[in-house]
Amino acid sequence: MSPADFNLIKDGQTQWLIDKITSLSKTKTCISILDYGCGKMRLYNALSELNFRFNYVGTDFESSEEINTIINTNDNCNFISLSEIAGMGRNSFDIVCLSNVVHEISIIEFAEIILTTKLLLMKDGHFLLLDMSVLPQGELLGLPYFPDEVLSLFEPMDYAFETQSGYPIIACDICPSALMLPHVAIEKLYSLVMKKRDDFSFLALSLVNKYGIDFFNEKFKNINKRMNSEELLGYAQYLSGLSNYRMVEFRQSYYSDNDNEFYIDLINLYMSTFDRTGEQLSLIEMYDKLYPKYSVTQITCKLKQATYPHSFFGFDDGERLYATERLDYFLNNYTFDDLRKSGIIISAMCGIED
Ligand SMILES: C[S@@+](CC[C@H](N)C(=O)[O-])C[C@H]1O[C@@H](n2cnc3c(N)ncnc32)[C@H](O)[C@@H]1O
Repeated sequence: MSPADFNLIKDGQTQWLIDKITSLSKTKTCISILDYGCGKMRLYNALSELNFRFNYVGTDFESSEEINTIINTNDNCNFISLSEIAGMGRNSFDIVCLSNVVHEISIIEFAEIILTTKLLLMKDGHFLLLDMSVLPQGELLGLPYFPDEVLSLFEPMDYAFETQSGYPIIACDICPSALMLPHVAIEKLYSLVMKKRDDFSFLALSLVNKYGIDFFNEKFKNINKRMNSEELLGYAQYLSGLSNYRMVEFRQSYYSDNDNEFYIDLINLYMSTFDRTGEQLSLIEMYDKLYPKYSVTQITCKLKQATYPHSFFGFDDGERLYATERLDYFLNNYTFDDLRKSGIIISAMCGIED
Protein backbone atom coordinates (compact mmCIF):
# COMPACT_ATOMS: atom_id res chain seq x y z
CA MET A 1 0.00 0.00 0.00
CA SER A 2 1.43 3.44 -0.92
CA PRO A 3 1.41 6.26 1.69
CA ALA A 4 -1.55 7.92 -0.09
CA ASP A 5 -3.52 4.79 -0.97
CA PHE A 6 -7.34 5.05 -0.79
CA ASN A 7 -7.46 2.09 1.60
CA LEU A 8 -4.77 3.32 3.97
CA ILE A 9 -7.04 4.54 6.75
CA LYS A 10 -5.88 2.73 9.86
CA ASP A 11 -2.49 4.46 10.08
CA GLY A 12 -1.57 6.77 12.96
CA GLN A 13 -1.84 9.99 10.93
CA THR A 14 -5.36 9.24 9.77
CA GLN A 15 -6.31 8.22 13.32
CA TRP A 16 -5.11 11.61 14.60
CA LEU A 17 -7.20 13.38 11.93
CA ILE A 18 -10.26 11.29 12.63
CA ASP A 19 -10.05 11.85 16.40
CA LYS A 20 -9.72 15.59 15.81
CA ILE A 21 -12.56 15.80 13.31
CA THR A 22 -14.96 13.68 15.36
CA SER A 23 -14.31 15.74 18.48
CA LEU A 24 -14.91 18.97 16.52
CA SER A 25 -18.06 17.53 14.97
CA LYS A 26 -19.72 17.21 18.40
CA THR A 27 -20.66 20.91 18.40
CA LYS A 28 -22.27 20.91 14.90
CA THR A 29 -24.95 18.85 13.21
CA CYS A 30 -23.10 18.78 9.89
CA ILE A 31 -19.46 19.61 9.40
CA SER A 32 -17.87 20.94 6.19
CA ILE A 33 -14.39 19.71 5.33
CA LEU A 34 -11.97 20.77 2.61
CA ASP A 35 -9.19 18.26 1.90
CA TYR A 36 -6.37 20.24 0.27
CA GLY A 37 -4.21 18.05 -1.97
CA CYS A 38 -6.69 15.20 -1.45
CA GLY A 39 -4.85 12.66 -3.63
CA LYS A 40 -7.01 9.55 -3.82
CA MET A 41 -9.45 10.84 -1.16
CA ARG A 42 -8.41 8.39 1.54
CA LEU A 43 -9.60 10.93 4.13
CA TYR A 44 -13.11 10.67 2.66
CA ASN A 45 -12.82 6.89 2.85
CA ALA A 46 -11.84 7.06 6.52
CA LEU A 47 -14.60 9.57 7.39
CA SER A 48 -17.33 7.58 5.69
CA GLU A 49 -16.73 4.68 8.08
CA LEU A 50 -17.88 6.90 10.93
CA ASN A 51 -21.29 7.84 12.10
CA PHE A 52 -21.63 11.61 11.75
CA ARG A 53 -22.86 14.08 9.13
CA PHE A 54 -20.32 15.88 7.01
CA ASN A 55 -19.81 17.44 3.60
CA TYR A 56 -16.45 16.75 2.04
CA VAL A 57 -14.72 18.65 -0.78
CA GLY A 58 -11.42 17.32 -2.09
CA THR A 59 -9.14 19.51 -4.16
CA ASP A 60 -6.10 18.55 -6.22
CA PHE A 61 -4.70 19.27 -9.66
CA GLU A 62 -7.23 17.15 -11.50
CA SER A 63 -9.86 14.52 -11.00
CA SER A 64 -9.43 10.84 -11.97
CA GLU A 65 -11.73 7.99 -12.87
CA GLU A 66 -11.59 6.67 -9.29
CA ILE A 67 -12.47 10.09 -7.89
CA ASN A 68 -15.35 10.51 -10.34
CA THR A 69 -16.75 7.17 -9.20
CA ILE A 70 -16.57 8.24 -5.54
CA ILE A 71 -18.26 11.59 -6.09
CA ASN A 72 -20.94 10.13 -8.35
CA THR A 73 -21.96 7.60 -5.73
CA ASN A 74 -21.82 9.81 -2.63
CA ASP A 75 -23.93 12.96 -2.14
CA ASN A 76 -21.66 14.38 0.55
CA CYS A 77 -18.49 14.20 -1.56
CA ASN A 78 -17.30 16.66 -4.16
CA PHE A 79 -14.13 17.50 -6.07
CA ILE A 80 -12.90 20.94 -7.14
CA SER A 81 -9.69 21.46 -9.07
CA LEU A 82 -6.94 23.56 -7.47
CA SER A 83 -7.36 26.26 -10.11
CA GLU A 84 -10.96 26.83 -8.97
CA ILE A 85 -10.46 26.72 -5.23
CA ALA A 86 -9.28 30.30 -4.77
CA GLY A 87 -12.54 31.66 -6.16
CA MET A 88 -14.76 29.68 -3.74
CA GLY A 89 -17.08 31.30 -1.20
CA ARG A 90 -15.23 32.84 1.73
CA ASN A 91 -15.64 31.50 5.30
CA SER A 92 -17.39 28.35 4.13
CA PHE A 93 -15.52 25.46 5.79
CA ASP A 94 -15.31 24.26 9.39
CA ILE A 95 -12.14 22.32 8.70
CA VAL A 96 -9.37 22.50 6.12
CA CYS A 97 -6.97 19.52 6.10
CA LEU A 98 -3.56 19.58 4.51
CA SER A 99 -2.18 16.10 4.78
CA ASN A 100 1.19 15.04 3.38
CA VAL A 101 1.38 17.95 0.96
CA VAL A 102 3.73 20.43 2.64
CA HIS A 103 6.92 18.46 1.99
CA GLU A 104 6.15 18.45 -1.77
CA ILE A 105 5.51 22.13 -2.43
CA SER A 106 7.38 25.36 -3.09
CA ILE A 107 7.56 28.32 -0.72
CA ILE A 108 5.04 30.26 -2.84
CA GLU A 109 2.62 27.32 -3.03
CA PHE A 110 2.73 26.93 0.75
CA ALA A 111 2.06 30.67 1.22
CA GLU A 112 -0.84 30.45 -1.24
CA ILE A 113 -2.40 27.48 0.57
CA ILE A 114 -2.12 29.33 3.88
CA LEU A 115 -3.88 32.35 2.34
CA THR A 116 -6.64 30.33 0.69
CA THR A 117 -7.21 28.40 3.91
CA LYS A 118 -7.47 31.64 5.90
CA LEU A 119 -10.05 32.99 3.44
CA LEU A 120 -12.08 29.77 3.16
CA LEU A 121 -12.23 28.83 6.85
CA MET A 122 -14.98 30.04 9.10
CA LYS A 123 -13.75 32.34 11.87
CA ASP A 124 -13.96 29.50 14.43
CA GLY A 125 -12.64 26.93 11.93
CA HIS A 126 -9.62 24.64 12.19
CA PHE A 127 -6.66 24.11 9.91
CA LEU A 128 -5.39 20.55 10.40
CA LEU A 129 -1.85 20.28 9.11
CA LEU A 130 -0.25 16.88 8.84
CA ASP A 131 3.03 15.75 7.46
CA MET A 132 5.93 13.40 8.00
CA SER A 133 9.22 14.58 9.41
CA VAL A 134 10.86 11.41 8.12
CA LEU A 135 10.02 10.84 4.50
CA PRO A 136 9.81 7.45 2.88
CA GLN A 137 12.58 6.78 0.40
CA GLY A 138 12.03 7.99 -3.13
CA GLU A 139 10.54 11.41 -2.31
CA LEU A 140 12.67 13.12 -4.91
CA LEU A 141 11.95 16.75 -4.07
CA GLY A 142 10.48 16.08 -0.65
CA LEU A 143 11.79 18.57 1.87
CA PRO A 144 10.58 17.56 5.34
CA TYR A 145 9.63 20.15 7.93
CA PHE A 146 10.42 19.44 11.55
CA PRO A 147 8.23 19.89 14.63
CA ASP A 148 10.13 22.91 15.97
CA GLU A 149 9.87 24.61 12.55
CA VAL A 150 6.12 24.11 12.37
CA LEU A 151 5.78 25.45 15.93
CA SER A 152 7.74 28.55 15.00
CA LEU A 153 5.45 29.15 12.01
CA PHE A 154 1.99 28.73 13.48
CA GLU A 155 1.65 28.47 17.28
CA PRO A 156 -0.93 25.66 17.00
CA MET A 157 -3.78 25.27 19.51
CA ASP A 158 -3.01 21.57 19.78
CA TYR A 159 -0.37 19.31 18.31
CA ALA A 160 1.16 15.85 18.33
CA PHE A 161 4.56 14.84 17.06
CA GLU A 162 4.13 11.12 17.54
CA THR A 163 1.32 8.72 16.83
CA GLN A 164 -0.02 6.64 19.72
CA SER A 165 2.34 3.88 18.66
CA GLY A 166 5.33 6.25 18.68
CA TYR A 167 5.68 6.87 14.93
CA PRO A 168 7.06 10.34 14.19
CA ILE A 169 4.53 12.70 12.58
CA ILE A 170 3.68 16.36 12.50
CA ALA A 171 0.04 16.97 13.36
CA CYS A 172 -1.19 20.45 14.25
CA ASP A 173 -4.57 22.05 14.90
CA ILE A 174 -4.25 25.72 13.93
CA CYS A 175 -6.82 28.54 14.24
CA PRO A 176 -7.39 30.87 11.24
CA SER A 177 -6.03 33.95 13.04
CA ALA A 178 -2.63 32.16 13.38
CA LEU A 179 -2.37 31.85 9.59
CA MET A 180 0.00 34.43 8.16
CA LEU A 181 -0.68 36.56 5.12
CA PRO A 182 1.52 35.71 2.10
CA HIS A 183 4.01 38.58 2.37
CA VAL A 184 4.75 37.46 5.96
CA ALA A 185 4.56 33.72 5.21
CA ILE A 186 6.98 33.99 2.30
CA GLU A 187 9.54 35.87 4.37
CA LYS A 188 9.27 33.42 7.29
CA LEU A 189 9.38 30.34 5.07
CA TYR A 190 12.32 31.64 3.09
CA SER A 191 14.40 32.33 6.22
CA LEU A 192 13.39 28.99 7.69
CA VAL A 193 14.47 27.11 4.57
CA MET A 194 17.68 29.14 4.42
CA LYS A 195 18.42 28.25 8.05
CA LYS A 196 17.71 24.61 7.27
CA ARG A 197 20.17 24.74 4.38
CA ASP A 198 22.85 26.34 6.58
CA ASP A 199 22.27 23.98 9.52
CA PHE A 200 22.49 20.89 7.36
CA SER A 201 25.52 22.13 5.44
CA PHE A 202 27.22 22.76 8.75
CA LEU A 203 26.13 19.37 9.99
CA ALA A 204 27.50 17.65 6.89
CA LEU A 205 30.83 19.31 7.63
CA SER A 206 30.78 18.27 11.26
CA LEU A 207 29.89 14.67 10.45
CA VAL A 208 33.50 13.91 9.81
CA ASN A 209 33.89 13.22 13.53
CA LYS A 210 32.06 11.40 16.32
CA TYR A 211 31.02 14.63 18.01
CA GLY A 212 29.01 15.60 14.92
CA ILE A 213 27.28 12.23 14.72
CA ASP A 214 26.29 12.31 18.41
CA PHE A 215 25.04 15.86 18.02
CA PHE A 216 22.88 14.88 15.06
CA ASN A 217 21.41 11.85 16.80
CA GLU A 218 20.67 13.91 19.89
CA LYS A 219 19.01 16.78 17.98
CA PHE A 220 16.82 14.50 15.89
CA LYS A 221 16.37 11.58 18.26
CA ASN A 222 12.60 11.94 18.25
CA ILE A 223 12.22 11.97 14.53
CA ASN A 224 14.96 9.83 13.10
CA LYS A 225 16.05 6.30 13.45
CA ARG A 226 19.71 6.09 14.26
CA MET A 227 21.79 6.15 11.11
CA ASN A 228 25.35 5.15 10.53
CA SER A 229 27.83 7.90 9.72
CA GLU A 230 27.66 7.38 5.99
CA GLU A 231 23.87 7.54 5.91
CA LEU A 232 23.93 10.61 8.12
CA LEU A 233 26.35 12.40 5.85
CA GLY A 234 24.18 11.59 2.82
CA TYR A 235 21.04 12.73 4.62
CA ALA A 236 22.57 16.02 5.78
CA GLN A 237 23.85 16.80 2.29
CA TYR A 238 20.53 15.80 0.76
CA LEU A 239 18.51 18.12 3.01
CA SER A 240 20.90 20.98 2.53
CA GLY A 241 20.69 20.51 -1.27
CA LEU A 242 16.90 20.33 -1.25
CA SER A 243 16.61 23.47 0.86
CA ASN A 244 18.89 25.19 -1.60
CA TYR A 245 16.68 23.98 -4.46
CA ARG A 246 13.58 25.50 -2.80
CA MET A 247 15.39 28.82 -2.36
CA VAL A 248 16.58 28.95 -5.96
CA GLU A 249 13.10 27.98 -7.16
CA PHE A 250 11.67 30.84 -5.09
CA ARG A 251 14.14 33.41 -6.40
CA GLN A 252 13.43 32.36 -9.98
CA SER A 253 9.71 32.91 -9.45
CA TYR A 254 10.24 36.50 -8.36
CA TYR A 255 7.90 38.57 -10.40
CA SER A 256 8.60 41.82 -12.14
CA ASP A 257 6.87 43.62 -15.02
CA ASN A 258 5.87 47.13 -16.04
CA ASP A 259 2.15 46.51 -15.93
CA ASN A 260 0.58 48.93 -13.46
CA GLU A 261 -3.00 47.70 -13.54
CA PHE A 262 -2.49 46.23 -10.05
CA TYR A 263 -1.72 49.67 -8.57
CA ILE A 264 -4.84 51.12 -10.19
CA ASP A 265 -6.96 48.34 -8.68
CA LEU A 266 -5.25 48.85 -5.34
CA ILE A 267 -5.83 52.62 -5.29
CA ASN A 268 -9.47 52.16 -6.31
CA LEU A 269 -9.98 49.50 -3.66
CA TYR A 270 -8.30 51.65 -1.01
CA MET A 271 -10.45 54.68 -1.82
CA SER A 272 -13.74 52.81 -2.16
CA THR A 273 -13.15 51.03 1.18
CA PHE A 274 -12.46 54.36 2.84
CA ASP A 275 -15.56 55.97 1.28
CA ARG A 276 -17.71 53.02 2.33
CA THR A 277 -16.44 52.37 5.85
CA GLY A 278 -14.38 55.41 6.84
CA GLU A 279 -11.55 52.93 7.58
CA GLN A 280 -8.21 52.18 5.99
CA LEU A 281 -7.98 49.04 3.87
CA SER A 282 -6.75 46.02 5.84
CA LEU A 283 -4.21 43.76 4.17
CA ILE A 284 -6.46 40.72 4.49
CA GLU A 285 -9.24 42.60 2.65
CA MET A 286 -6.70 43.53 0.00
CA TYR A 287 -5.75 39.87 -0.56
CA ASP A 288 -9.39 38.86 -0.40
CA LYS A 289 -10.40 41.30 -3.15
CA LEU A 290 -7.34 41.14 -5.42
CA TYR A 291 -6.67 37.39 -5.25
CA PRO A 292 -7.05 35.30 -7.42
CA LYS A 293 -7.30 38.02 -10.11
CA TYR A 294 -3.62 38.55 -9.28
CA SER A 295 -1.46 35.64 -8.16
CA VAL A 296 0.12 35.52 -4.71
CA THR A 297 3.52 36.17 -6.30
CA GLN A 298 2.18 39.22 -8.18
CA ILE A 299 0.46 40.65 -5.11
CA THR A 300 3.40 40.22 -2.77
CA CYS A 301 5.90 41.68 -5.25
CA LYS A 302 3.68 44.63 -6.18
CA LEU A 303 2.70 45.28 -2.57
CA LYS A 304 6.38 45.54 -1.74
CA GLN A 305 6.82 48.19 -4.42
CA ALA A 306 3.64 50.05 -3.50
CA THR A 307 4.85 50.33 0.11
CA TYR A 308 8.52 51.16 -0.50
CA PRO A 309 9.70 54.37 1.16
CA HIS A 310 8.61 57.28 -1.09
CA SER A 311 5.74 55.32 -2.56
CA PHE A 312 1.94 55.63 -2.37
CA PHE A 313 1.27 53.44 0.65
CA GLY A 314 2.65 52.17 3.91
CA PHE A 315 1.26 49.66 6.37
CA ASP A 316 1.17 49.59 10.13
CA ASP A 317 1.45 46.86 12.79
CA GLY A 318 -2.29 46.33 12.66
CA GLU A 319 -1.84 45.29 9.02
CA ARG A 320 -3.76 48.25 7.63
CA LEU A 321 -2.61 50.15 4.59
CA TYR A 322 -2.33 53.91 4.88
CA ALA A 323 -1.87 56.37 2.04
CA THR A 324 1.19 58.61 2.06
CA GLU A 325 1.01 62.25 0.94
CA ARG A 326 2.35 61.02 -2.41
CA LEU A 327 -0.94 59.35 -3.19
CA ASP A 328 -2.78 62.66 -2.62
CA TYR A 329 -0.28 64.44 -4.82
CA PHE A 330 -0.69 61.82 -7.51
CA LEU A 331 -4.47 61.97 -7.46
CA ASN A 332 -4.42 65.80 -7.68
CA ASN A 333 -1.89 65.98 -10.50
CA TYR A 334 -1.99 62.82 -12.57
CA THR A 335 -4.43 60.34 -14.04
CA PHE A 336 -4.53 56.56 -14.09
CA ASP A 337 -3.44 56.78 -17.72
CA ASP A 338 -0.24 58.52 -16.59
CA LEU A 339 0.27 55.68 -14.13
CA ARG A 340 -0.34 53.11 -16.87
CA LYS A 341 2.26 54.78 -19.10
CA SER A 342 4.86 55.87 -16.58
CA GLY A 343 5.01 53.04 -14.13
CA ILE A 344 4.93 53.11 -10.35
CA ILE A 345 8.06 55.24 -10.62
CA ILE A 346 5.63 58.14 -10.94
CA SER A 347 5.20 57.97 -7.17
CA ALA A 348 8.78 59.20 -6.78
CA MET A 349 7.73 62.46 -8.50
CA CYS A 350 4.74 62.92 -6.25
CA GLY A 351 6.61 64.22 -3.22
CA ILE A 352 8.03 67.27 -5.03
CA GLU A 353 6.80 70.55 -3.53
CA ASP A 354 5.11 73.00 -5.91
C1 LIG B 1 1.43 12.44 -0.85
S1 LIG B 1 -0.01 13.00 -1.62
C2 LIG B 1 -1.12 13.12 -0.24
C3 LIG B 1 -2.55 12.86 -0.60
C4 LIG B 1 -3.54 12.91 0.56
N1 LIG B 1 -3.63 14.21 1.15
C5 LIG B 1 -3.20 11.87 1.58
O1 LIG B 1 -2.73 12.20 2.68
O2 LIG B 1 -3.45 10.70 1.29
C6 LIG B 1 0.31 14.70 -1.99
C7 LIG B 1 -0.77 15.37 -2.78
O3 LIG B 1 -0.52 16.77 -2.82
C8 LIG B 1 -0.89 17.25 -4.09
N2 LIG B 1 -0.24 18.55 -4.33
C9 LIG B 1 0.98 18.79 -4.88
N3 LIG B 1 1.20 20.12 -4.98
C10 LIG B 1 0.08 20.74 -4.47
C11 LIG B 1 -0.29 22.09 -4.29
N4 LIG B 1 0.48 23.09 -4.67
N5 LIG B 1 -1.50 22.35 -3.75
C12 LIG B 1 -2.30 21.34 -3.36
N6 LIG B 1 -1.99 20.04 -3.51
C13 LIG B 1 -0.82 19.73 -4.06
C14 LIG B 1 -0.45 16.14 -5.02
O4 LIG B 1 -1.10 16.21 -6.28
C15 LIG B 1 -0.82 14.89 -4.23
O5 LIG B 1 -2.09 14.42 -4.52
